[in-house]
Amino acid sequence: MKIIIADYLYIDGKYVENLAIAFDTHIRAVDTPENLIGDYPDAQLIRAKPYTVLYPGFINTHVHLEFSANKTALKYGSFMPWLDTVIEHRDNLLKDCNNEMMRKECEQMMRSGITTFGAISSFGTELQICEEVPQRVVFFNELIGSNAQYADMLYGDFLERVQASQSCDNESRITPAVAIHSPYSVHPVILQRAVTLAKQHKMPLSTHFLESQAEREWLEEGSGEFKAFFEKFFNTSTPVTTIKEFLHAFDTYPTHFVHCVQANDEELAHLKAHGHTVAHCPRSNRYLGCGRLAIEKLGELDLPYTVATDGLSSNDSLNIFDEFRAALMMHHQAPIQQLALKLIKAATEDAAKALGTNGGTLHVGKDADFALVTLPELPKRAEEIALWSILHTREVDALYIEGEKYV
Ligand code: BEZ
Ligand code: FE2
Repeated sequence: MKIIIADYLYIDGKYVENLAIAFDTHIRAVDTPENLIGDYPDAQLIRAKPYTVLYPGFINTHVHLEFSANKTALKYGSFMPWLDTVIEHRDNLLKDCNNEMMRKECEQMMRSGITTFGAISSFGTELQICEEVPQRVVFFNELIGSNAQYADMLYGDFLERVQASQSCDNESRITPAVAIHSPYSVHPVILQRAVTLAKQHKMPLSTHFLESQAEREWLEEGSGEFKAFFEKFFNTSTPVTTIKEFLHAFDTYPTHFVHCVQANDEELAHLKAHGHTVAHCPRSNRYLGCGRLAIEKLGELDLPYTVATDGLSSNDSLNIFDEFRAALMMHHQAPIQQLALKLIKAATEDAAKALGTNGGTLHVGKDADFALVTLPELPKRAEEIALWSILHTREVDALYIEGEKYV
């Protein structure tokens, strides 16, 4: 048993003093340091540096490791020109993205406090790295393909990748999962098969949804920038589904909907009514010119959301604190202290619920996954610790996964 003592514990949205945690692979007790030392006299004592906050490990719910080689290849600023460059440079980007590169990015995530991430996998090439790194990985095998002619073949390939992720051993901390690429790129027949599969195996399910205005226009009117794209690359000029039909495909299984920047009030209410959650990727949305997710509307609906970096195909780092700071700037109208608290909750408790993991809070029985954030001085007001944590942290001071120290 180990006992960790820090100046503050982040528990139930508050920063509590004079509490410590006894843990092995899981949290076994939360109590005063004196009581824990009395209860576990042989435990190894870990005293964090002064002004340290003990957080549950942060969770990045949506990342594309396979696109880690992108630095300047993809055009930022507007969604369709970006997608054009994805098609143009995809093969080179994938070729340049080797295991070492992906391992480094996982280490970067770990140094920023991320103990769990949701890896969206188009090809399965990052499975080995995800097995090897210490983090817990919800491995989202992605299904793509709007052309009915190739649908069976693409579904078969997807199934093989799902099976490969299902055969990882326990030590790899991999949870097999299913991702639907998007409403515009997945044929409804294979979409339904994949949703049924996720449901049967109780696998987490996720999908990109209404990321850009162009996507909305294509799905609603069959027009706009996507029309030229589909004519050029897929020899078709009609969308395979509608927004309503796509949404209804998920009605019986709670799903993590990524982006939702262009979703209207009715669609957001539908997500809430069916127990879905949203992944908010502020920098990705900004860099691809998609707009701002109205998180205040999600708040009004009590629709839970997480914070995610997306991949380096639409970002400049996989650091969750960089993402928090971007969110603080993007949502400039929001009261800053409340927003800081909300972002921390989004990337811990709410993210664990969205991905179905046993982390995200510092309660007895939860995984012993911790991120320790050391503030530069004694915080003058405890109610501002969330904001100071976000503003003053590039890298965490220490990180634990399943009770072992990795940073
Ligand atoms: C499709 O299969 O329809 C598709 C694939 C990639 C991007 C957009 C659409
Ligand atoms: Fe994404």
